Amino acid sequence: QQLQMNLEQIEKGGYDHFMLKEIYEQPSVIKDTYRGRLHADKGIVQMAGVEDNLEKFTNANRILIIACGTSWHAGLVAEYVIEEFARIPVEVEYASEFRYRNPIIYPDDVVIAVSQSGETADTLAAIKLAKEKGAFVFGVCNVVGSSISRETHAGAYTHAGPEIGVASTKAFTTQITVLTMIALRLAKAKGTMNNSDYQRYLLELELIPEKVEEALQTNEVAKTIAGIYKDAPNCLYLGRGYNFPVALEGALKLKEISYIHAEGYPAAEMKHGPIALIDEHMPIVVIAPKQNHYDKVVSNIQEIKARSGKIIAVVTKGDTQVRALADHVIEIPDTSEALTPLLTTIPLQLLSYHIAVMRECNVDQPRNLAKSVTVE
Ligand code: G6P
Repeated sequence: QQLQMNLEQIEKGGYDHFMLKEIYEQPSVIKDTYRGRLHADKGIVQMAGVEDNLEKFTNANRILIIACGTSWHAGLVAEYVIEEFARIPVEVEYASEFRYRNPIIYPDDVVIAVSQSGETADTLAAIKLAKEKGAFVFGVCNVVGSSISRETHAGAYTHAGPEIGVASTKAFTTQITVLTMIALRLAKAKGTMNNSDYQRYLLELELIPEKVEEALQTNEVAKTIAGIYKDAPNCLYLGRGYNFPVALEGALKLKEISYIHAEGYPAAEMKHGPIALIDEHMPIVVIAPKQNHYDKVVSNIQEIKARSGKIIAVVTKGDTQVRALADHVIEIPDTSEALTPLLTTIPLQLLSYHIAVMRECNVDQPRNLAKSVTVE
């Protein structure tokens, strides 16, 4: 028993929980993800699995992304990024819905299956179905040699290393990194992005690990905010554009490990329902980096304020407009618009973590959840 405890302590590398360790690993694992693939100085981004099948990607009339849970959220971010960069229509599907819908799949569709474990039963079944219908299936997995990595025609690993915490953190940001690299490669191949934007994105992506490092410095403020709202029964997360999926992911993290009911919404959609829930007791996390329809988000914040909601805003460093309205601000470094999810996600992970710890929840193994869902 004692030995077991000590071993676990060593594995946690000095952190109280695997989740916290994995949150803090993000700067280095994102670097591992793009190492050997991204060469900003040479204007190159390449992954073997993509290069070998480049024509399939560039000729695709549509990309279908299938996944579950957090991986599905990474897929949603990729929808925004791939459509913007490579101008290929993208649809993101829950694997469990896709597989039972008799979905329409054309032979020139490219299907991207995203899975940390590579073992999720629904995702695996969806892949088999897509293959039967003649699609080319590309996997984005973390676990090397996993069922999904073997079942797909080609793929790119995320190289995040083992993720032990049930709530996914580093797998999410490395999935976004891989999918963004795919988007950039396709943009280059298709000529859908001007060269200076392409070059700027490559350089910015290379800077992401150090900016994530800086975003991790929000730990103390996230902890303070956690102390204030740890007993809230509900919490709302709002974001627009690239950060709408981050709102979903932020809410999922809170639900999973703290058992607080949380919902993520596109900020503008608030008017169509969630606004009815807002009163002085409701904490609302608003993701408001200076890009991503900033002015629109500011007016959403004003609407929340008018109803006395408690505003926790994630903003770009130096922001003044939101600061004047919000109850709390969490500052993250500036980056190019499409890369903001890699930074805005960080304080939301920390916020859920601290709330869960303060509520004395089992952070690494939350009740009723499994790390990989191998049955349907
Ligand atoms: C479970 C895990 C989640 C994960 C989801 C999809 O629900 O608890 O963290 O996002 O499965 O798993 P996958 O391994 O396919 O990414």
